[in-house]
Amino acid sequence: MSVTSYATPTPTATPKPRAKAKPLSRAPNETTERARQTTMLSPRFYTTDVKSMNRLSIDTIRDEWDALMAEFEEDANQGHFHQGEDWSFDPESLPEGLRKEFLDFLVSSLTAEFSGCVLYAELHKKGFNPDMQKLFRYMARDEARHAGFINECLKEFGLDVDMGFLVKTKEYTHFSPKFILYATYLSEKIGYARYIRIFRHLEAHPEHRFHPIFEKFERWCNDEFRHGEALALLMRANPKTLRGLNLFWIRFFQLAVFATMYVRDHSRPEFHEALGLDPEEYGMEVFRIVQEVSEQVFPVLLDIEQPAFLEGLRELRRLSEEIAETEARGLRGKLKALPLKLRAGATFAKLYFLPTKKNALPDDMRVAPAW
Ligand SMILES: [Fe+2]
Ligand SMILES: [Fe+2]
Repeated sequence: MSVTSYATPTPTATPKPRAKAKPLSRAPNETTERARQTTMLSPRFYTTDVKSMNRLSIDTIRDEWDALMAEFEEDANQGHFHQGEDWSFDPESLPEGLRKEFLDFLVSSLTAEFSGCVLYAELHKKGFNPDMQKLFRYMARDEARHAGFINECLKEFGLDVDMGFLVKTKEYTHFSPKFILYATYLSEKIGYARYIRIFRHLEAHPEHRFHPIFEKFERWCNDEFRHGEALALLMRANPKTLRGLNLFWIRFFQLAVFATMYVRDHSRPEFHEALGLDPEEYGMEVFRIVQEVSEQVFPVLLDIEQPAFLEGLRELRRLSEEIAETEARGLRGKLKALPLKLRAGATFAKLYFLPTKKNALPDDMRVAPAW
């Protein structure tokens, strides 16, 4: 199978950046509408400056790059994203609360996977640097498979996300190439860490495996890890992205990614209970893996072990729940939520200014997915 022939088509209509998405005449189904909504915590769609992205050079790391491209070409997960003969799941088996949260997890994961697909497909299609084109073709291939497979799981519940509709109607956030590098690197690595932690936990406690999708996570997460490796090599080959004022942005993105995961995971208590996971413990384990991997590329790392870090995250979570409850009361609630939002902003800033750790970058840029 060639790298372009995968089950789920990558978007053919390359999206244009726009602040507000256009309404279409046809109405989306409810699941698609949920994926389309953009909130503080929901996965976003991104566009970037393709020309600048294509000016990145990997000449200084050609050997490492070629070795990684050979891994992509090998395509070890080509046949992995299918339900297969031993797949067995009864959608009626989940109690109502768990079913709701699990579906929320699937829709949010699909949106995140598809967000990668849309961005990488755009970079592949509009790219002119052969190295970038090749990389983003492989990455779009993988993300299309991931998103398509989650949609297959949703279909068992009689639901699905119309990805073509999403491409045309979801809001896009424009990020400069360096922001794309920081944000996608972190989301690939945190994706790896989340999937592998769930997989290892269920290996030890199979009685909590309430859906067969979790069986797929071990090989799945290796795709995400490899995507992150490519982005790490890109940053190391273009060291300007890792110097000077950029260090402030690197800190910002680490915190934004961790805080979002912490708050979002706490909004799914029944899902985590069914898995037998404490969201806070699980979150910290995931953050530790991401920190350890990030030593390959980031000269500055958050110090997540200082007690003030977790205290700040707990405060953000508390405020975010209070904001959601207050805003649900209509226009008055929205006004009343403003001071809470300011407090959430101040808490984020306090977290941002906590002491950080300096990290000397290793000569060997690659890390193995050994967790
Ligand atoms: Fe993915
Ligand atoms: Fe990925």
